[in-house]
Amino acid sequence: MEKLWGGRFEGKSEAWIDAFGASIPFDQKLAKQDITGSLAHVKMLAKTGILTEEDAEQIRSGLTTIQEKLFAGELSFSIENEDIHLNIEKLLHDEIGPVAGKLHTGRSRNDQVATDMHLYLKEIVQEVIGKLHLFRQVLVQKAEENIETIMPGYTHLQHAQPISFAHHMMAYYGMLTRDQERFAESLIRIDISPLGCAALAGTTFPIDRTYSAKLLGFSSIYENSLDGVSDRDFILEFLSNSSILMMHLSRFCEEIILWCSHEFQFIELTDTFSTGSSIMPQKKNPDMAELIRGKSGRVYGNLFSLLTVLKGLPLAYNKDLQEDKEGMFDTSHTILTSLEIMAGMVETMKLNQKIMEKSTEKDFSNATELADYLANKGMPFRQAHEVVGKLVLDCTKQGIYLQDVPLEQYQNITPLIQSDIYQTLSSKTAIERRHSYGGTGFEQVKAAIKRSKLKLESEEY
Ligand code: ARG
Repeated sequence: MEKLWGGRFEGKSEAWIDAFGASIPFDQKLAKQDITGSLAHVKMLAKTGILTEEDAEQIRSGLTTIQEKLFAGELSFSIENEDIHLNIEKLLHDEIGPVAGKLHTGRSRNDQVATDMHLYLKEIVQEVIGKLHLFRQVLVQKAEENIETIMPGYTHLQHAQPISFAHHMMAYYGMLTRDQERFAESLIRIDISPLGCAALAGTTFPIDRTYSAKLLGFSSIYENSLDGVSDRDFILEFLSNSSILMMHLSRFCEEIILWCSHEFQFIELTDTFSTGSSIMPQKKNPDMAELIRGKSGRVYGNLFSLLTVLKGLPLAYNKDLQEDKEGMFDTSHTILTSLEIMAGMVETMKLNQKIMEKSTEKDFSNATELADYLANKGMPFRQAHEVVGKLVLDCTKQGIYLQDVPLEQYQNITPLIQSDIYQTLSSKTAIERRHSYGGTGFEQVKAAIKRSKLKLESEEY
């Protein structure tokens, strides 16, 4: 088959070499953006008088027909035409004949592919922002339903101090809010048009880059043509933001997996988000959470592979850049589906409130309360810490907890301890009294939920 760039070549191409160089198996995902970009380009060519209205109209109508066929699922692409850009140009040629050849005036595949990628990522990031917003709503709702649900708070995965389950949910809300902000801020650098940078050096045709950028809805244009065709920072930034997001989801999934275990039994996932075992009839596995935790690996991998592709590249375009696509498509799909699964899984998970709360009663997570109690009565905190530490050791030897120690024994340790100590030692009181801003105190958590709801309502996405 004749190559669109075949003029300079004498030898025949070979199918297996073509296959290695082709990107059409994956970049056909950019068909919509490629046609949109061409429609803007041809409109600009007509406006600037580079093409006659008549030629431009023929091209526009041909592109529109191809677009309709694309949406109807009637287009097929060929590997001989290498990539989406040459495939569409070939289809246009089949549709309207030699005038199709005028479309490529004043541009190159180098600015064309960069334009397609910017358009694609802009859409994806907006979608990601929407999904993050929805997931954050679920977290706040789950928090609101569970302000009074008491659970152990951990450090080193050891019971540390009791907290409200809502506070735990709101911690993830905080992480995901930052993720959403990161994606939103990255839009500034995605929303730039490289169209008209041409192959690398700009063009001799009197093009109007600002006009085509405006038609495509871009807010600005690249200032430097070499930079415009070589820049893939906006994809790196997306992959990096996605990696941080997946790290957050993976941490959450790890907790969900632990909470579902027989040892914890804090939550139960609905059947929809669980799977069985082919051999052990009793199993109900949190596969979806495990998969999201696992998929963080490929998202990190995609970031590293693009960083590596870019690190030694001389300016401007190099074919290496074709390697920017599969990782970006894969990451887009992975984060969008992971966010959907997370929202559904968290929204529907059932909490075993009793078990959670009980696990804070049979532990020493109230030891800080006793130390604070003594410090409040004038004992230096360091001394109080020592006294309580010794008592905990003693209790572990006897197999009892602080609330089981008789008042007499407490008063033998120090007469500072009065009968109100038992109330002080309850998990509920421990939480209630943590009034400090951003702490787990019920009133603080309620206020945090209120702030988050106002924020969510004010968001436009
Ligand atoms: N398929 C190519 C890519 O994805 C398009 C740009 C090709 N440009 C070139 N000069 N060979 O990067």
